[in-house]
Amino acid sequence: VYVVLSLGGSLIYGEKGLDRKFLESIKQIIEESDHSFGVVTGGGKKARDYAEEVRKKGGSEFDADVAAIRATKENAKELINVLGSLAYEKVADDFNEAREGAKKSKVVVMGGTIPGITTDTDAVLLAEALHAKRLVNISNVDAIYDSDPRKNPMAKRFKRLNYEQLVKLAIESDTRRAGEHFIFDILACKLISRSKIEAHFVSGKRLEDVKAAIEGMPHSGTVVSD
Ligand code: UTP
Repeated sequence: VYVVLSLGGSLIYGEKGLDRKFLESIKQIIEESDHSFGVVTGGGKKARDYAEEVRKKGGSEFDADVAAIRATKENAKELINVLGSLAYEKVADDFNEAREGAKKSKVVVMGGTIPGITTDTDAVLLAEALHAKRLVNISNVDAIYDSDPRKNPMAKRFKRLNYEQLVKLAIESDTRRAGEHFIFDILACKLISRSKIEAHFVSGKRLEDVKAAIEGMPHSGTVVSD
């Protein structure tokens, strides 16, 4: 049984650079689980820095995305190094390669794929490709809220959502100002809703929740299902 993990880039590579301790804790959780894993790593600060550098030199948004994808793949490589023999040794460049890697190892890791999307979408596509039982989105937000909890202390937290509600929330927040993006990008929400993949949203700072979500047990984050 496959579980796909979407690892928020800021957890891997934040203001202080690479967080190897976080990667080690993910390794331990994977090691202790009986499942097989597809993991997609985000870019975090590294991706923003790479993209900004390209823009400064006059590169297009396409070029900025290509550079940001490179950052996500460097993060993927760091995770592979930490996972050692548990992981397929190469960062999978596309979903077919990920499928092949998954046949050979307990864990296959990938970063971004094509410009114009984010690793949220890559994670859902990987979950579809692997027929994953569930997807666990691990970020620095502990659940899905109706508005940004860091800006609105009255934000309402959801324990459960169905796919329709998830897509509706993503569309509503799409009209908000730049920089206030919803926890899961809109294309990723649409894709998860077409395949009805059970999705869990938990904080990377609460490893007990991450473990529980992977096993499909109750946790303090949000569960999205029918
Ligand atoms: P992330 O998935 O980390 O983006 O990919 P994000 O949602 O902006 O970041 P966080 O999680 O909130 O920190 C980083 C960037 O890499 C490019 C995009 O530019 C994206 O913003 N990217 C990623 C792609 O172009 N294609 C991909 O498949 C993945």
